Amino acid sequence: MDFSPAVASLKPSATIAAATKAKELKASGVDVYEFTLGEPDFITPEHIREAAIEAMNSGKTHYTPAGGVIELKQAICEAALRDYNLSIKPENVIVSNGAKHSIHNVLTAMLHPGDEVLIPTPYWVSYSALVELAGGVPVLVTASEEEGFCPSIENIAAKTTDRTKMIMLNSPSNPTGVIYPLDLMRQIGEFAVEKNIYVLSDEIYDKLVYPGWETKCMLTMGDEIASRTIVINGVSKAYAMTGWRIGWTIGDPELIKAINKLQSQQTSNPCSISQYASIAALTGPQDCVSQMLGEFAKRRDYTLSRLREIPEISFVEPGGAFYAFFNVSKYFGKTLQGGVVVDNATDFCTALLEQAQVALVTGDAFGAPGFVRLSFATNIETLTVGLDRLARFLAG
Ligand SMILES: Cc1ncc(COP(=O)(O)O)c(C=O)c1O
Repeated sequence: MDFSPAVASLKPSATIAAATKAKELKASGVDVYEFTLGEPDFITPEHIREAAIEAMNSGKTHYTPAGGVIELKQAICEAALRDYNLSIKPENVIVSNGAKHSIHNVLTAMLHPGDEVLIPTPYWVSYSALVELAGGVPVLVTASEEEGFCPSIENIAAKTTDRTKMIMLNSPSNPTGVIYPLDLMRQIGEFAVEKNIYVLSDEIYDKLVYPGWETKCMLTMGDEIASRTIVINGVSKAYAMTGWRIGWTIGDPELIKAINKLQSQQTSNPCSISQYASIAALTGPQDCVSQMLGEFAKRRDYTLSRLREIPEISFVEPGGAFYAFFNVSKYFGKTLQGGVVVDNATDFCTALLEQAQVALVTGDAFGAPGFVRLSFATNIETLTVGLDRLARFLAG
């Protein structure tokens, strides 16, 4: 078939591909331990599920305004005030079918062909694909392990040209879990103001922050920075609602109107029932979030303590999200379990799956060769076996 150039050149999501491969092996009877997908293993909290049932039973089963019901937009505004002391209005908000769709819409609404978008690496797999799909050019800015995976202003400046339209930030980060220091966020914001570029701040993990770490919404960094900032968020990660597909964009009302126009021709409204469930998530009791975070914290501490015991593995401590992103490059060229020798992270993950039946995602997918990502959003028993197997695999 003759596909459009945009789709023909589109790469499938590497995380979804890794998870699919692991699931296929599992389905064929192989005992695979998988740590590939970025989603909480918890079921959506009960009061949120109840709100969805109530919405269905009371007939909230029709089209809604394309950009979401006003009650949900108000709930997003109230949550911004409660969580960040941030005052925004419903006209600053549009609701879409998950945060990925929100990002897609911002890029589609804003990019002209050839516009450059700065993306600090390691970056979430979909960013570069979404930029290309919208006709833009992803420009990667390396943030090394030594720099704590935080991009320096010098490196950002070195990649900025007169075609640069925006910089995409993601703190806490997928895949590293790293949280940018607030000073760095402010400096990047000031740089954006100075260069007249936009900041697209993906804050989807902002509620999954471990004790001792801090994050803030980029819109709280002062009026000038806020005027050039677009924030992405959603219910997927914080409320274990990945399947409900609700994300949102906060930005200038002109941008919100443009995205509304786009969305009204493209998908119409996000699922009405999910919207009402999201209102319950945002305005209801928040202790479900701290309970889940408490569980993630135990799993994080366990995973990191196990990784510390393995020689020649290094990582930057994740302050948020639910990923351990570690450097396995010292094992390249060495004999691993089954007499296997690898020289890159992609082959490492294939060999680990084949020899030890453990599924991780290669850092190559995140623009970080030499690293692998382990999602610890799974129970301690599964982590124990998986990490035992990893240690045996590396011991050769
Ligand atoms: C950094 C980041 N942004 C956005 C998303 C997308 O979230 P959603 O499931 O709401 O589309 C993800 C999901 O993995 C993510 O890791």
